[in-house]
Amino acid sequence: MTTAFETTTPDASDFWSDVDAHVLRYGPTFERRVITRAEGSYVYDTDGQAILDFTSGQMSAVLGHSHPAIVETVRREIGRLDHLFSGMLSPAVVELSKRLGSIEAGLEKVLLLSTGGESNEAAIRLAKIVTGRHEIVAFSKSWHGMTGAAASATYSAARRGYGPAGVGSFAIPAPNAYRPRFTHGDGSLDWQTELDDAFDLVDSQSTGSLAAFIAEPILSSGGIIELPEGYFAALKRKCEERGMLLILDEAQTGIGRTGHMFAFQRDGVTPDILTLSKTLGAGLPLSAVVTSRKIEETAHERGFVFLTTHVSDPLPAAVGLTVLDIIERDGLIDRARTTGARLKTGLQSLRQRFDFIGDVRGRGLLLGLEIVADRASRTPDLAMGDRIGEAAMARGLSMNIVKLPAMGAVFRIAPPLTATDAEIDQGLAIIADACEAARR
Ligand SMILES: Cc1ncc(COP(=O)(O)O)c(C=O)c1O
Repeated sequence: MTTAFETTTPDASDFWSDVDAHVLRYGPTFERRVITRAEGSYVYDTDGQAILDFTSGQMSAVLGHSHPAIVETVRREIGRLDHLFSGMLSPAVVELSKRLGSIEAGLEKVLLLSTGGESNEAAIRLAKIVTGRHEIVAFSKSWHGMTGAAASATYSAARRGYGPAGVGSFAIPAPNAYRPRFTHGDGSLDWQTELDDAFDLVDSQSTGSLAAFIAEPILSSGGIIELPEGYFAALKRKCEERGMLLILDEAQTGIGRTGHMFAFQRDGVTPDILTLSKTLGAGLPLSAVVTSRKIEETAHERGFVFLTTHVSDPLPAAVGLTVLDIIERDGLIDRARTTGARLKTGLQSLRQRFDFIGDVRGRGLLLGLEIVADRASRTPDLAMGDRIGEAAMARGLSMNIVKLPAMGAVFRIAPPLTATDAEIDQGLAIIADACEAARR
């Protein structure tokens, strides 16, 4: 059976009038192109234009689009074992739990879910039941998802207009080397004093019920703000001193993108709870919560429940196994490091050329390019950012800009880990052309 959308190439005017009539607007301005196909590092519109995808879809498609091994896995598994009663376990689910739970000591127990928000929801519930407390601290430029507790811990956007957040939701500033709030004598960021100051404020607001801190190792929606080396260890100490758990949300940084399997491995500090999503399914809906045997045991004894329709679903678990296989087989963690270095060097040389590129930051294949009005004031230039983004898209490159005024005008650049050197160079050439065009 073929369906209508398979047999027709939509007429553009009908398509957009149907969008106006029927698609509920959920935040972003829709790109005025109809995308009908994606393969590797490119998506294709109805005119057949190839658009280099430097955001890996929604920062997820680490293997590029429609990777042959993922296509093969989905085709095979959908005909064998699609979905189950949530109390039934299948080999793919147990095998993926074993693989994820064998990477780091202290992170052995795995819960498989569908989305990032859901994984953070489960992590926060785990922290609450294990500590017997309810207060959750996060960074003021965080993004952890759109569901209850995850949204309560999301501060970078989407907070106004929805009534009260969870009782006991606190935020502290993330350390920002480009715009430091606390500095050493030489002007560099003094993150330790900033962290001490922030926790003084948390302590004064807390009712003595601090359950967890939830953090992204690189705040992505917050404008690619990387936590400096040493920060995690200090943050973990702050948590331990207060009997709180540390939850790391590696939705975007996990599964190799920063040049480590998990970004926290650079710092040698293991979180109490790790959440994975976007990159784990490489674009398909799969997420995981990973924690220690001790935390899992306590939670279980206290009656922990996180029962969803798609918990432990076999089809996405099979996809997750294939993702891990390909990451390992093709050495993609090393690729993220080398390709990331190539891309960063290229962006840094563009910074030499264009005054409005204020900063290049991030690591591996999760990089940020910040557009400013002038380098002295470091004022974000949203209009220039828009012009560059549009000029890049017109030339066949999709880059995502964070342009909420409080966050600055930061392009988040996260190509698939499978991107070739030639594709990276093509992207850099388009960014250079787009900057040139936007300057005129
Ligand atoms: C760091 C981080 N955590 C969680 C989420 C939420 O994931 P999802 O949209 O799959 O619920 C996102 C989504 O952008 C994210 O960037």
